[in-house]
Amino acid sequence: MALLGSQSYLQKVLVIGGGGREHAICWKLAQSKLCDKVYCAPGNGGTALEGKVENVPIAVNEFDKLAQFAVDNKIDLVVVGPDNPLADGIVDRLEKSNLVVFGPTKDQSKLEWSKAHAKQVMDNLAIPTPRYVIARSYEDAKKSALEHDWARVVKVDGLALGKGVFVCDSQEEVLQALAEIFENQTFGDAGRVVLLEEKIDGEELSLLMLCDGKHLVEMPACQDHKRRFDDDKGPNTGGMGAYSPVDLYDRHKAEIQAKIFRPLQKALAENKLSFKGVLYAGIIVSKAGPQVLEFNARFGDPETQALLPRMKSDLLVALFACATGELDQVEIEWVPESSCCVVAVGDKYPASSSKGETITFDEQLANNATEPYLFHAGTKHGNGGVITDGGRVLSVVALAPTMEDAAKKCYEGLNQVSFKGMEFRKDIARRAFKQCHSN
Ligand code: GLY
Repeated sequence: MALLGSQSYLQKVLVIGGGGREHAICWKLAQSKLCDKVYCAPGNGGTALEGKVENVPIAVNEFDKLAQFAVDNKIDLVVVGPDNPLADGIVDRLEKSNLVVFGPTKDQSKLEWSKAHAKQVMDNLAIPTPRYVIARSYEDAKKSALEHDWARVVKVDGLALGKGVFVCDSQEEVLQALAEIFENQTFGDAGRVVLLEEKIDGEELSLLMLCDGKHLVEMPACQDHKRRFDDDKGPNTGGMGAYSPVDLYDRHKAEIQAKIFRPLQKALAENKLSFKGVLYAGIIVSKAGPQVLEFNARFGDPETQALLPRMKSDLLVALFACATGELDQVEIEWVPESSCCVVAVGDKYPASSSKGETITFDEQLANNATEPYLFHAGTKHGNGGVITDGGRVLSVVALAPTMEDAAKKCYEGLNQVSFKGMEFRKDIARRAFKQCHSN
């Protein structure tokens, strides 16, 4: 089915996942004039409230049930959000049922689920990345750590819920991390292979690119805030907030495009790289220039919540074009405004989740017709309202002509939400407007 010749054809979409990213995707898809209905499996308390969106009680790992649901309901496009089902081959399973799917196959998503594989791809394409060594046993890893005094970052090869990266200050800490991985086997199979990497000082940005197998299109750059507390202190999290655009990207655009974006684009066009979906490059910019730290094979969370409100074009058209190899037929436009997203979490996050606390919010904020927007993550319906049900509970997103005003509006929006134990960082995007003031 060619999308571009079928503008009047109403589409039914199934979004798989239940986080803030999936709420933002459902919200944006539902705005499409071509969209008749969005199902979200399993969704969350917020997707259940969006117009045109209906939650489906099927878990992300129930591939056969998801395929059956999509076939029975004549779904035109399936959009897969999270990394684990991609790594487990959900796209392969859905495509076997002749469904049109936005997302990479198991093999294609190896760029995310094997850090060693991603490094090898970067080497093949001469994409700059910090130097590294791969170790396939504890003995090997210890030997490499002692041989390479530059190795200060230890990464488990597989998916580890964002917890498989140890940034160390000494060789001793590297050896402790290796003991945690190989002796305590904290990461199970994901930690059978490790990567020892050089620690690079610099500032990071996330570059998300849409891909249809042959063509690659950059989305505006974002920056996320991974540490739990203000001033980038405390443990790593899934992400406490994000903003877009990113001045760092603009300042290094030519180099990022020449060394990272165009080699990927060329490799796709020449069939040297196989991928469709969102290719997400985690980039660090140091004195040596931009380097890729990692690839993800999906939309980022919370980057997506910051990005999609800036998208002027129809997301359904863009994702369908990616799934059907027609991305070159589509022009994707973005509004110039700055976007700021702040995530609210329970006070024990990331050690544990918030459960069963009643969430109160201003009705206008909740209806998402105008900004600030409220995207739910760990929420569900209960006690006659919406209650907490996860670590990252929700996020608020606002747009404004300047980042400072976007952040201000975002925090005003957050003041209209509350639940027991609610916490959030107070400095999201501050880095961006501090840089503006000092320029
Ligand atoms: N924000 C980081 C991620 O989505 O992996």
